[in-house]
Amino acid sequence: MAKCRFCGSRDVEVHLEYARLSLCVECFLKFFERKVDSTIRKYRMFPKGTRVAIAVSGGKDSNVLLYAVKKLYPALDLIPIYLNLGIKEYSDHCEELVREITRKLELPLKIFKLEDEGFTLDDVATTRFRRKICTACGLIKRYWMNRLAYEMKAERLATGHNLDDLVKFALNHYIHGDLESILRLKPLLTSGMDGKLVAKVKPLCEVTDFEDLLYAEYSEIPYRSIDCPYATGKGYDRRQNLMKNILTVMPDFRHVFFKSHLKRFLPILEKGYELEMQLKECSVCGMPTIREVCAYCRLKEKLTNKD
Ligand code: AMP
Ligand code: FES
Ligand code: ZN
Repeated sequence: MAKCRFCGSRDVEVHLEYARLSLCVECFLKFFERKVDSTIRKYRMFPKGTRVAIAVSGGKDSNVLLYAVKKLYPALDLIPIYLNLGIKEYSDHCEELVREITRKLELPLKIFKLEDEGFTLDDVATTRFRRKICTACGLIKRYWMNRLAYEMKAERLATGHNLDDLVKFALNHYIHGDLESILRLKPLLTSGMDGKLVAKVKPLCEVTDFEDLLYAEYSEIPYRSIDCPYATGKGYDRRQNLMKNILTVMPDFRHVFFKSHLKRFLPILEKGYELEMQLKECSVCGMPTIREVCAYCRLKEKLTNKD
C-alpha cells in the first residue's frame, strides 16, 4: 500500500503521475502552496510594496489563485477584479461567487460591468461577430483587466492561467509559428508605456489543472458550477484531446515542454527577435496600442454604432 512520500501516512489521497508522487491531503496542500510560493519568488512577481490586481473570474483557477495568494501573503496590497460581461445567468452566477470568496477573505472587490459601455457579450452574440464571440470576449477581457489594474495604480496584474493552459497556448503558437505570441508566453511579462501596460504575472504557471482542482476541492473553495454558454469551440476540444493523448505516453510532457520553452527557446528567440512594440496612445481612450485606435475601441465603435 502506498505511503505519503512526505509524512509516511497511509492516508494517501493524491497521486501525481508526472512526478510519481503519492501524498496525503495535508501534505498535498502544503506541496501546492510551496510550489506557488516558489514560482512567485523565482520570477519576483510581487516585489515588496507592490499593489497587485488579481483577475478573478469565479472559475476554479482564479479562485484558487486568490485564496492561495492571500494565504501566502496576507499583508500584500491585493485588489481582486471581476468583469461582468453581461452573459445571461452565467455572469451573475460568477459575480456572486467572486463576491462570496472576497467577502470570506475580507478583500475589497472591484467590479466592472460591460453594460456600462453600452453593450454586453449577449449583444455581441446577435451581431456578425457571433462566430468569433470568444475572440471578441478575449479582447474585451484583456483590455479591461489591464485598464482597471492601471486605473487602480496596480503594478502587477495576476491571472489564474495554470500549466495546462500555458502548454496548450504554447503548442498552438509553435504549431503555427506565431513568434510574437511565443515571446509573450512567460510567467512575468514586464510593463510598458509608464505603467499603462501593466506587468502580467501567472503565479499558477507551474501547477497543473488537476492540482488546481484538487486544491479547490480540499480547501473547499467555491467556484462556478455552470459553463459559459458560448464555450463550445471545436478547436478547444481538439487541443484538449491532443494533450490527453500525449500525457498517456509522456506524463511529464507539460513540465518538460514548458521548461524547454522558458529555458531553451525563449533566451535564443529573444536575442534574435526584438518584439516590435511601437506602442502609442489610442486616440479614443488613451490606452496603449500599435494602431491609431486600439482594437477594443474599434470593436466598441462597431457594436454601439447603430447607423
Ligand atoms: P480564461 O481566458 O477565461 O481562461 O481566463 C483566464 C484568466 O483570466 C482567469 O484565470 C482569470 O484570472 C481571468 N479572467 C477571465 N475571465 C474573467 C472575468 N470575467 N473577470 C475577471 N477575470 C477574468
Ligand atoms: Fe468569453 Fe464565454 S467567457 S465567450
Ligand atoms: Zn482605445
